[in-house]
Amino acid sequence: MRKIMINARLIACSLFTALAAVSAADAASGEAKAVKHNHWHFAGPFGTFDQNALQRGFQVYETVCSSCHGLELISFRNLGDKGGPFYLPSCPAGIPDSVDCANPNENPVVKAIAANYKFQITDGPDDGGEMFQRPAVPSDRVPGPYANDQIARLANNNALPPDLSLITKARHHGPDYVYSLLSGYEDAPSTVEIAVGQYYNPYFHGDMSQNLKPEYVDEQGHPEDGVEVPLGGVLAMAPPLADGIVEYTDGSPQTVEQYAADVTEFLMWAAEPKMEARKSLGVVALIYLVILAGILYWSYRKIWADAH
Ligand code: HEC
Repeated sequence: MRKIMINARLIACSLFTALAAVSAADAASGEAKAVKHNHWHFAGPFGTFDQNALQRGFQVYETVCSSCHGLELISFRNLGDKGGPFYLPSCPAGIPDSVDCANPNENPVVKAIAANYKFQITDGPDDGGEMFQRPAVPSDRVPGPYANDQIARLANNNALPPDLSLITKARHHGPDYVYSLLSGYEDAPSTVEIAVGQYYNPYFHGDMSQNLKPEYVDEQGHPEDGVEVPLGGVLAMAPPLADGIVEYTDGSPQTVEQYAADVTEFLMWAAEPKMEARKSLGVVALIYLVILAGILYWSYRKIWADAH
């Protein structure tokens, strides 16, 4: 009995130490600001993507983000899939009857986007053994800006811009985080020093105690009493958005907030293009279960009605 008690004490003790170590590590790594919650069209069990927002979001991605970030899991034809930004249930006027616009490979909008995309496809080798560039077709993956990670790092102060295909799934609070990060850049507080090529963002996870100016830290490198360590961190991405840099044709506001929300909705679609199908299947399954429960209850009453 005594032995068991000692063991229990030991366990409690080591648990406490482990917890203390974890929370100390947490405190040392600094905290980021709580994300902003946007009201998303796609949230909830019945949420759907707003096709206009997806189109604007793709426009923001192509105009701004694609200069540094790839979208390698998406092919152009996905843009014309059902539920995608440029899906056409039927052809617009002027398209010959022989074209099936609901088929993403024939969708004229998707074909034009692929053919005019800012990067071309490296294909080959040709008969002479040389690689060559050609315009994209709907079946091609969306080409990224850099030939390899090394070149990407060279161009970005040694930081690697992550592929954005799954980014809304790869970060805690996915869409709210991406939206907050993009629309949340601020001037760095006066207590910190930021290196050239680094940018302060309160929503990025980092440790701003490392950036405190020397006059705000004591000899051991800890913040002086009363000096607050700013929330957030520094990253190698300069604020990519500014009011007015992308021209919308549907009259939506041309603001950082709107661009950030639209590109986030687009990236959410890119990470889960089949979300709408999944949700509607879920609703059908629920209806089925409710009906099944009704039938089961009715037969239970019927079978046991005479058994007293
Ligand atoms: C000039 C190049 C450049 C442009 C343009 C750019 N980014 Fe970045 N981005 C980067 C780099 C570099 C990083 C890596 C930063 C780091 O880890 O320090 C990054 C990181 C990110 C991250 C990951 C942050 C994290 O939590 O790790 C997201 C999300 C992101 N960018 C989204 C976007 C979106 C959306 C756009 C378009 C609106 C965009 N970026 C435009 C260079 C760029």
